[in-house]
Amino acid sequence: MAETEIADVERVGARGDGVARAGVRTAYVPFTVPGDRVRLARGARRGDGDAASLIEVLQPGPDRVAARCPHFGACGGCALQQWADDEVLAWKREQVVAALAHRGLDAPVAAILATPPGERRRVYLAARNGRRGAVLGYRVRASHAIVNVTDCPLLNQALHTLLDPLRSLAAEVLGAGEEAAFEVTATAPGPDLVLERPRAPDAAEGRRLAAFAADAGLARISWRAGKTAESELVCLRAPPTVRFGDISVEIPPGGFVQASPSAEAALVGEIRAATETARRIADLYAGCGAFTFALLDRASVRAVERDAEAVAALRQAAHRSGARVEAEPRDLVRRPLQDDELRGFDAVVLDPPRAGARAQAEALARSSVPVVSYVSCHPGTFARDARILVDAGYRLTRVVPVDQFLWSPHVELIGIFQK
Ligand SMILES: C[S@@+](CC[C@H](N)C(=O)[O-])C[C@H]1O[C@@H](n2cnc3c(N)ncnc32)[C@H](O)[C@@H]1O
Repeated sequence: MAETEIADVERVGARGDGVARAGVRTAYVPFTVPGDRVRLARGARRGDGDAASLIEVLQPGPDRVAARCPHFGACGGCALQQWADDEVLAWKREQVVAALAHRGLDAPVAAILATPPGERRRVYLAARNGRRGAVLGYRVRASHAIVNVTDCPLLNQALHTLLDPLRSLAAEVLGAGEEAAFEVTATAPGPDLVLERPRAPDAAEGRRLAAFAADAGLARISWRAGKTAESELVCLRAPPTVRFGDISVEIPPGGFVQASPSAEAALVGEIRAATETARRIADLYAGCGAFTFALLDRASVRAVERDAEAVAALRQAAHRSGARVEAEPRDLVRRPLQDDELRGFDAVVLDPPRAGARAQAEALARSSVPVVSYVSCHPGTFARDARILVDAGYRLTRVVPVDQFLWSPHVELIGIFQK
């Protein structure tokens, strides 16, 4: 057995692990809270210290609480259930403040908006048909092992009730030892399922999948060979629609939707407040139009998004409803909207992936767009891009962190820039 040591956890680091200054080097210990005295075992080097595993908590810190989920600690899905909710929320807000300070930005950061458990409407589950039956759940952190999840307090009811049926399905449609992923999104007529594995379902599996869709009340099942491969329809029972504003959008298989409806509502509320007088808005990194359609009651919107299927979904929904939307498929990293294209917009909404939107921020910096609402799931890249905008004369007037990804170290936020 590896050597162990005893250490005190001082704080929680940016990745959600407790930071213990024990022995020669810092140890990063998952599932711990400040004030914990723990026994740990050091693992691989990590930055200025070592990744460590928690062997036991010898004395709990003052804000240690019982985890809500029976799988916590084994499952790689959650990292912070052992810490009191208020502490987690304060820590997440502090991640935003620290990221801004790191870029020399001193902006007003509002209280973090919490979201309730049981709201998650999209999930990516791993499955394997092993010798002792099928397992389905999340991966163990930094491992290929799958935790067989029977309960997940994050998921909404529609997804939660699918856990056991999907496990049974995995036993039927996966060969011995075969692995797959099930990506499931809750939509109005029922869950939308994407089976992801290298081989396409054969005819018998296709029939089994169709029967499953009927039994479990799914809207659609698709198959794709890998995460970035195109999907193929297996069966369609009802168009899988999600409502944004007053408009229902038929999302493509695996299409992006915000993980939690109340986080989406909070973001929409902030965007609407910031763009109240805007009549022409550009929604960049628009996905299937969650923000586009929420703004149409008072503005015309140009939606720009790289994913062609999302753009097609957006266009189709706009066409059906006669909405004032112009949707364009475009890679905004390679071809950001330039200042001449930005001319005439009263506001720009941005919602890039974790990598942020450096090229678009640089183009915005040269523009005279009066309001930029920037939604981000990564405080570090947000602060980097905010610096670009502030250096060009924008004022960062409001930052609101949103705890969209409960019990994970991730934090969503929206920043409002004005010029
Ligand atoms: C965080 S999602 C936001 C989607 C949408 N705003 C919403 O709330 O549903 C980010 C979106 O950016 C798109 N995207 C990623 N890289 C892109 C790029 N280089 N150019 C344009 N869009 C991109 C993704 O396809 C995804 O739809």
